[in-house]
Amino acid sequence: MSFSLNASPVRLHVNGSTCSVLARLDETLLDVLRRELKLFGAREGCGIGMCGACTVLVDGKPMSACLMLASLAEGLDLVTIEGLADGGNLHPIQEAFVDHTAFQCSYCTPGFILTTKVLLEENPAPSVDEIREYLSGNLCRCGSYVKIIDAVLDAAERLRSEGD
Ligand code: FES
Ligand code: FES
Repeated sequence: MSFSLNASPVRLHVNGSTCSVLARLDETLLDVLRRELKLFGAREGCGIGMCGACTVLVDGKPMSACLMLASLAEGLDLVTIEGLADGGNLHPIQEAFVDHTAFQCSYCTPGFILTTKVLLEENPAPSVDEIREYLSGNLCRCGSYVKIIDAVLDAAERLRSEGD
């Protein structure tokens, strides 16, 4: 049996839209999101599943797009940071990160925000230790952790008050 590494069409459902992209069998979802769809919010840091800079939501769970083959993402529900805002309105988690200046270079920020979204869906009132634990797969090389925790606590409060 032989495998072709020529690019072939893959249908991806991203941020609420379905599109056809070209991907080789050995290409990661991260590469294809960036090259084919120009969705640059997911970044490559380590490329080996250790830093969380490439985080996207796959069927509602945070995943490292650098570890997932694009061809295997067919039919799954994908959300990138570009899909989080509601039109011109930032998501409350994005607002909290901005208000707390929870970043320096911001390379890690999309990954932190997407992981935070799932954390707060699963646990609307997390403790600081629970936040640290849940976000432990996301690394910030600028060391903005204190402000990131503050932003997550604030985002949790904003989301809870929206639900009141
Ligand atoms: S680039 Fe994917 S986890 Fe680091
Ligand atoms: S703000 Fe620079 S890596 Fe986190």
